[in-house]
Amino acid sequence: MSKAKIEPAKRIDGVVELPGDKSISHRYAILSAIAEGVSEIRNYSSAADCKSTLDCLRRLGIEIESQDRTIRIPGKGLRGLKAPRRSLDARNSGTTMRLLTGVLAGQSFSSMITGDSSLRRRPMRRILDPLSAMGAKISARDGGLAPLEIQGTPLHSIDYTLPVASAQVKSAILLAGLYADGETSIHESVATRDHLELALREFGARVVAAKGIIRIEGGPRLEGRSLTVPGDLSAAVFFIAAALILPGSNVIIHDVGLNPTRTRILDFLISIGAPIHVASLQSRDGELVGDLAVRYAPLAGGAISGAQAAEMIDELPMLAALGPFTEKGIEIRGAQELRVKESDRVSALAESLARMGARVEEFPDGLRVEGRGAGKLRGAKIDPRGDHRIAMALAVAGLGAEGTTVIQDAECAAVSFPDFFATIDRMVER
Ligand code: S3P
Repeated sequence: MSKAKIEPAKRIDGVVELPGDKSISHRYAILSAIAEGVSEIRNYSSAADCKSTLDCLRRLGIEIESQDRTIRIPGKGLRGLKAPRRSLDARNSGTTMRLLTGVLAGQSFSSMITGDSSLRRRPMRRILDPLSAMGAKISARDGGLAPLEIQGTPLHSIDYTLPVASAQVKSAILLAGLYADGETSIHESVATRDHLELALREFGARVVAAKGIIRIEGGPRLEGRSLTVPGDLSAAVFFIAAALILPGSNVIIHDVGLNPTRTRILDFLISIGAPIHVASLQSRDGELVGDLAVRYAPLAGGAISGAQAAEMIDELPMLAALGPFTEKGIEIRGAQELRVKESDRVSALAESLARMGARVEEFPDGLRVEGRGAGKLRGAKIDPRGDHRIAMALAVAGLGAEGTTVIQDAECAAVSFPDFFATIDRMVER
């Protein structure tokens, strides 16, 4: 397995080349497959997770051409997928498994979807419960774990309140709702990422969202489209954090997704002193996109909890690793969901930050990482537990530490950002 050696850096400078947004890429690919006519998706994410979605769609009879960062998908319509001859493999991707299960539940054939050892440990009951209420026939391993065996069947609409704030669960229900009779309604108390709702409208479905309720009508005709995926803000955050760790840094990020359900992390960083400037804000294919400019400034630190934690769930590893570089430290509460991501991220962060000399307290629903007063971080050997965001967050912390940090199994970064380490190398001054 490959390791990445991170040496301390003086500063980081220049323009970041980001992969396309991972969440949006999955959704555009799935909707293109079940739409009628050809779709062209530009800047499709290079993330391994998004390749998993394409591979699953291929097994369902969809022919996908890809050239550079553009993919072309001739859609087969809502009822045009074919029974797969082998099981589908979502590998490390929770979004692939949960969203495709929503689609597969309403087909006229049976299928099976599995994943790697991390994904086979992650909770699936959260999609099995609402999908079963719609009439879906899905069997899982004990404890509601993958592999999932899905016997396609006619579905009926439901009115469902999400028990956990999860865009993946919401999206699985909305996709199943396309195959249900009547109108499906979903109630959410925290506004999770709404990329599927926006994309469904682009493809011609009627989705109404107001006051925390999202409604979709079954059986629409989806039409193939040409779309461009914005840069991935969750990937950008690693470079924003690097600029906030290394004095004198300046980082520019063009064409990044700034959908308000994703930008809570920017609001928080700005509130603790980060100079982040947004420019050229525009709406494209229903999504807000723009440019960011970030320069170094000392951060005060602070605490987040409850809805805030859900709204910046993917950025919490980087936020926690920023703790030792802030004045007051960072406290994260209400983030029990972090424990059921690609790894138990609370435990992975607490363990690896402590190895680097940070003072950390772990809670069932989060952690507290002491600020600068607790001393400078030291380079250490880090086991990211196969989790891309842990690997990248600790690598960035390593840029501001004393001595060398070694990230073991560093290739796991490719799950969301294959060029992460090359981009860091190109941009930092040592
Ligand atoms: C995602 C939703 C989030 C997020 C994940 C991607 C999505 O998961 O953590 O990286 O694309 O819908 P949950 O919905 O499980 O919180």
